[in-house]
Amino acid sequence: MTEARALPCLEPATGRGREQEPVGAPFFLPGEPARAYGRAKPRLKLEIRDVTKTFTSAQGLIRALSNINLTVHEGEFACILGPSGCGKSTLLHLIAGLELPDHGEIRLYSSRAKKEKKAEKLIIFQEAALFPWLTVLENVLFGLRLQKLGAKESKERAMHFLALVKLEDFANCFVHELSGGMKQRAALARALVLNPELLLMDEPFAALDFQTREKLQQELEEIWRRTKKTIIFVTHNVEEAITLGDRVILLSGHPGTVKREYTLPPGRPRQKETPFFAELAAEIKRDFQNPGRELVEQVTG
Ligand SMILES: Nc1ncnc2c1ncn2[C@@H]1O[C@H](COP(=O)(O)OP(=O)(O)O)[C@@H](O)[C@H]1O
Ligand SMILES: [Mg+2]
Repeated sequence: MTEARALPCLEPATGRGREQEPVGAPFFLPGEPARAYGRAKPRLKLEIRDVTKTFTSAQGLIRALSNINLTVHEGEFACILGPSGCGKSTLLHLIAGLELPDHGEIRLYSSRAKKEKKAEKLIIFQEAALFPWLTVLENVLFGLRLQKLGAKESKERAMHFLALVKLEDFANCFVHELSGGMKQRAALARALVLNPELLLMDEPFAALDFQTREKLQQELEEIWRRTKKTIIFVTHNVEEAITLGDRVILLSGHPGTVKREYTLPPGRPRQKETPFFAELAAEIKRDFQNPGRELVEQVTG
């Protein structure tokens, strides 16, 4: 047994089976100082059980993910962290329904009536996939075409979300007139306008310079706070994960498995200069860089 450390926020490695964490189980595991963090018990939103994914390539079979067990709760900001090639994008594609698992199950617990179900899960990619022949406003309106809204209402909704991402003054610009950060904001507005149940973000800020990235992180946090969306955010950047996440889920690769989860204290914005964060970042980086290290102990403060 490894010596217990002082960090108050770490959960044991996962790979937990259904028996250990049944549907509707408390967000916090026994032994974790949940009450000290003062979070209400949220509803289960997404449940991933024993999911495995294999690809067939010219080189043979590639096991991208193995035995993934994960739950995400309503309104949670969950960060999936892991090195390149460990299966982060594959996991998001499975959640979005763009790929099917070999076996295992992925369940979304909808909070809406069936007839309301429109956009359930939307992915925002590293390269904002906007249509270059449309303006920013037209890009945001594009997804609303299938919803039976009037032109006026559609435009009002689109402009509301463009204002939320601070792009209302750029509504009539074309995509090539936008900076990288603005493109990602436009992609965010285009996703939010559809009111998805789950927002899946695949390294959306990875191609941005440091300052733009920090600014967008702050803005995303504010938008998340205001819209109360459930977000699953993929990154390979430890600081980004602990800045944004309520919880950080560390994957190790080849094949990708959940190595460890870290539940962060709820105070926001995060005080990154504090010893707590430096210590937590160092701890995660050690786990990140050491694929052979198995952590199974419960660590509490
Ligand atoms: N469509 C595919 N066909 C074959 N192999 C794939 C495919 N998609 C992903 N992979 C492989 O699965 C593994 C995980 O990939 P990916 O999910 O993209 O990782 P990450 O997003 O963490 O960088 C990699 O080895 C990758 O080469
Ligand atoms: Mg990826």
